[in-house]
Parts: sequence; C-alpha cells; structure tokens
Amino acid sequence: MIAARGLAKRFGHSLALRGISLDAEPGDVLGLIGPNGAGKTTTIRILATLIPPDTGSAQVAGCDVVNDVEELRRRIGFMPELFGLYDELTVEQYLDFFARVYGFCGRERRRVVDEVLELVDLTNKREDRCEGLSKGVRQRVYLARTLLHDPQVLLLDEPASGLDPQARIDLRVLLGQLKEQGKTLLVSSHILTELEQVCTRVVVIEAGRVRFAGTMSEVAETLGEREVTLRLLDEVGADKAEALLANHAKLRANELTRQGARLTFRLAAAPADVAGLHRELVGGGIDVFSFEVREPSLESLFLDVTQGEVR
Ligand SMILES: Nc1ncnc2c1ncn2[C@@H]1O[C@H](COP(=O)(O)OP(=O)(O)OP(=O)(O)O)[C@@H](O)[C@H]1O
Ligand SMILES: [Mg+2]
Repeated sequence: MIAARGLAKRFGHSLALRGISLDAEPGDVLGLIGPNGAGKTTTIRILATLIPPDTGSAQVAGCDVVNDVEELRRRIGFMPELFGLYDELTVEQYLDFFARVYGFCGRERRRVVDEVLELVDLTNKREDRCEGLSKGVRQRVYLARTLLHDPQVLLLDEPASGLDPQARIDLRVLLGQLKEQGKTLLVSSHILTELEQVCTRVVVIEAGRVRFAGTMSEVAETLGEREVTLRLLDEVGADKAEALLANHAKLRANELTRQGARLTFRLAAAPADVAGLHRELVGGGIDVFSFEVREPSLESLFLDVTQGEVR
C-alpha cells in the first residue's frame, strides 16, 4: 500500500531526506518516528504528492507520487501537522462542505457525513461551531474530513500532538478501528508510547536517514531485553526459582531483585527462550502463580537508535 525507495529532498543547502525507504502492507499501521527535524513531515508531504522528491520513487495505494497525482489523492486521506477549520461553520456544515467538494450529493452526502461523525464519535457535537472546539475535538473533526471519501490509505502527521492523555487514548482507539476496517495508516510522532500499542511496524528516522525499520516483534527482538516478573506461590517456591535462575545462561544474577515470593529480572532472549524458561520452571516442580513479560518499549528503542542528531 505504501512503498518508498531512496527518497531524497533538499531545501536550499539543507538535505532534509537522504534516502528514505519504507513499506506498509494493507492493514498495517506504520509508525514514522523521529526527533524534530528528522524529516517526518517532508516524507509525508512527498507521499501525499504535495512536494516531489528530488530523487527516489514512491507508490501509495497503487499510484505513483509523481505520475498519478490526481488518482493518488482520491485514494488517500492526509492530515497535516497544522491545520485550520472554518470557524464560522458548525461541525456538520464543515463536513458537508467537504463532502460536496468530494462530489457527494443529496441523501448520499448526508449518509457519509453521518457515518464519519459516528466513526469519530462526534454525533453529539454536530451542531457546535468549529470556533469553540477543543484541540482534541478539532483533531477528530479534521480526521473525519479525511475519511469522507473512504480512502484506502491515511497519512497522519503527528495526530497525537497537543492532545491530553484521554484524547490520546481516544485517538488510539480510533486508529485501531480504522486498522480493523483494513485501512493502511502511516502515523508520525515523537510521542512514542502513544503509537506502541497500535503500530504493526515502525520506521525510526533521524537527520533524513532510516535508523531502524521493522515489525513490532522485530523491535522487541532487536532490543532483546524483556523484563519478567515472576510470582511464586510461596517463599519456598521463590527460593527454588531463584536457584534455577541463578544458573540461567541468559540472565545475569545481579539483575534479579526479590520481594517475598516475587522475582523480577531482565532477560536478553527471544520469545522462544522466554517460553522455554517458563517450561523449565514448571517442569522443575515450581508452582508459578504468575509469569508476566514486559516487552521493551519504543521509547527505549528510540533512545537507542537515535543519537541526538537534532537539526
Ligand atoms: N519548506 C522548507 N524549506 C526549508 N527547509 C525545510 C522545509 N521543510 C523542511 N525543511 C527542513 O528539512 C528538515 C526536515 O524537516 P521536517 O519538517 O520534515 O522534520 P520533522 O521530522 O517533521 O520535524 P518535526 O518533528 O519538528 O515536525 C529540517 O531541517 C527542516 O528545517
Ligand atoms: Mg513535522
């Protein structure tokens, strides 16, 4: 659905992109992550056909960003970093206006407006004027506008920026729903923890280059270290588990902390090794009350792969 190869872009003396490649399959939510000035907006603007790349190529929803501009625009929804609404219109009038621009008429137009209002959960705000809306609601109104023509691909530039924690959760749920509908999403952010739960793939860019690209499980693989919290039935069980873990190859003994019958440790291991450890414990006759694994976070990946090269 999205395939970019070697995108480069120069603004005057500054090289904003130095060969960005990325891919997203149908149903993917691709997180485009990077610090300020990394090239996220430039990449998205190229994919949305607002600016052409100097070199490199890209296809979105089966269309080329240079040769099939009009058809590509019909197939995508684009939400820019900064946008305005028409303050004097109500939410419904605003959406109705753009539905008209997209060529919907009569009953059909009312239907698509009702549908997107429902989807972004703004039906009760349809009569409100855009002027007085909070940031989170404005964000959803704009998102509704990008959904009117039922695009296959959504390009969202920092949709979570400036939202309060509740609005971010709402946005995440909404992005999850769009993914369920089979849409392909590209979402940029430096607020990493917001994307973690909804992304299927991530591309971390910095200073116009890709530093890391992969699926969420590859992110976990790369980072390796998972945190395991193990609760045993009683202290005797905890003694046995501690003894078993003390000799475990993938775990350094000084990384284990114990509180009563609860053990916490970090493990540099693949998912199969983690499952194997669980099997060893149970196989060794140890009564495991709970075995909880925390995957490495995008936050730690981000700090790992970017080197603070902010421009
Ligand atoms: N129209 C422009 N004219 C000149 N320089 C530009 C232009 N657009 C982007 N740049 C430069 O290109 C680089 C990448 O900018 P871009 O906006 O793509 O980064 P970003 O990752 O979106 O950053 P942010 O997180 O701050 O939104 C920056 O150095 C920026 O100054
Ligand atoms: Mg930007």
